[in-house]
Amino acid sequence: MSDIKQLRIRQPDDWHLHLRDGNVLEAVLPYTSAHFARAIIMPNLVPPVVTSADASAYRQRINRALPETDTFQPLMVLYLTEQTDPEDVRAGYANGDIVAAKLYPAGATTNSAAGVKNIEAVYPVLEVMQEIGMPLLVHGEVVDAEIDIFDREAVFIERTLSRVQARFSGLKIVMEHITTSDGVEFVKSCDRNVAATITPHHLVINRNAMLVGGIQPHYYCLPVAKRETHRLALVEAATSGDSRFFLGTDSAPHLDGAKESACGCAGIFNVSVTLSVLAHVFEAAGKLENLERFTSLNGAGFYGMAANEEMITLVKAGDELDVSEKLDVAGGKMTIFDPKFPLLWKVKA
Ligand code: NCD
Ligand code: ZN
Repeated sequence: MSDIKQLRIRQPDDWHLHLRDGNVLEAVLPYTSAHFARAIIMPNLVPPVVTSADASAYRQRINRALPETDTFQPLMVLYLTEQTDPEDVRAGYANGDIVAAKLYPAGATTNSAAGVKNIEAVYPVLEVMQEIGMPLLVHGEVVDAEIDIFDREAVFIERTLSRVQARFSGLKIVMEHITTSDGVEFVKSCDRNVAATITPHHLVINRNAMLVGGIQPHYYCLPVAKRETHRLALVEAATSGDSRFFLGTDSAPHLDGAKESACGCAGIFNVSVTLSVLAHVFEAAGKLENLERFTSLNGAGFYGMAANEEMITLVKAGDELDVSEKLDVAGGKMTIFDPKFPLLWKVKA
């Protein structure tokens, strides 16, 4: 470990976040806006955000949930379906209602039933996105019952993503929340048009966290954590400074009742501890000097946006951040991601 005790970096952005709606939105939003300037807001609501008008209405609900003095900026994403109108995408991107579109293979994850079954059905939309420079965000897992869940990312790259990338080589693509060395290698094998987000939890846990010593539902998310060699590949990519890898927390709030169940749902709430976890990971890798690239520079660069001007300070002190206290959310309790190491780095107020 280094003897650096303080780090000043540009204010971070979160390039993959679930805020939900209504009471849950109100409860979780302050944890994001306390640390992050902007976030890419996932559109998997019920019903999903499928038109630019839906995105604009959702952005207004988020802005209404923010205190007036808060300058947090939600960046809205369209949920691609086989009915998405390419001209709605063009118009919504031009007027700033949407900044990206998300591809969910139908059935791949929470609220993805309305997603895409046949990728070629959205080619006309991808054509327009390539033309206007709008990024495609991808949930990169196949849904075929015969494919082992631990192989679904690698098989998606092989069967679908490499085909889309070859067909639309000018399209900006973000592989969201990569969990494998296959994801890292795919990004590196492409030119600068392909990037990936990485979550704090996938930098810290492997699949043992979820399965050893009893089923641990608070470590279950999609894509599921893989074996240790993959985690190490993610740490190497995230801490390397390579501009194609950046932070997406994939913070995905679910009440404990929905997770601690016979059919527990996928998703980990982590935004309140994300920067503390990342500082620890980068410090342990001897790469604290690259933390700002990962949290505050690479993502903005890929999306063609300016980096934030505001600065934040991270301080390493003797006392630990407490993650044992559950949050009160919408009449229930919600567990905060526990990386199972002392969180000594904190964002200075
Ligand atoms: C996300 C959710 O709950 O919306 N869950 C998750 O495990 N990551 C959906 C997603 O991003 O796949
Ligand atoms: Zn997500």
